[in-house]
Amino acid sequence: MDSSDDEGEEYLFKVVIIGDSAVGKSNLLSRYARNEFNLHSKATIGVEFQTQSMEIDGKEVKAQIWDTAGQERFRAVTSAYYRGAVGALVVYDISRSGTFESVTRWLEELNTHSETTVARMLVGNKCDLDNIRAVSVEDGKNLAEKHGLFFMETSALDSTNVKTAFEMVIKEIY
Ligand code: GTP
Ligand code: MG
Repeated sequence: MDSSDDEGEEYLFKVVIIGDSAVGKSNLLSRYARNEFNLHSKATIGVEFQTQSMEIDGKEVKAQIWDTAGQERFRAVTSAYYRGAVGALVVYDISRSGTFESVTRWLEELNTHSETTVARMLVGNKCDLDNIRAVSVEDGKNLAEKHGLFFMETSALDSTNVKTAFEMVIKEIY
């Protein structure tokens, strides 16, 4: 709690990150929340979250960002994961087309478990791997447009657009 603010004007938004295993969900979150990257991170088991503050229009806005396993067998209760979410990042890996093909399935799950008003962004992660790119920027943009999502390519490794992607979603909610 922020004791210096006696007005108690504080916003807390829940944002979820979804997408196939190893697309970099956990590293996007650790890069955004702690400026950390792990080349050998382990697959997430269950659910983890981090709270991150930012300032919008002079007000403190807090985002509670949830990260879960891309692998089905490590996932926790799906409905609980999405409950109350007002923002979502749907992540694929630009170097693996299978993860891009899964996006539609992740969107279906998101739509099933959340309100249509959720601010959604399609994120093509690992844009530092341009030399082994398997999904074009154009394909990413087109898919995002088709489903009415924001779109951005990011790199948790070199930090490209990580802050921008999270903050765009949070600002949209706010
Ligand atoms: P699950 O927890 O199994 O769902 O995977 P995840 O989506 O959380 O993936 P994670 O963040 O654990 O990253 C998987 C692998 O990709 C790790 O070896 C990371 O170091 C690597 N990685 C993550 N982001 C990037 C990136 O932007 N660029 C590159 N080159 N590697 C990345
Ligand atoms: Mg993970």
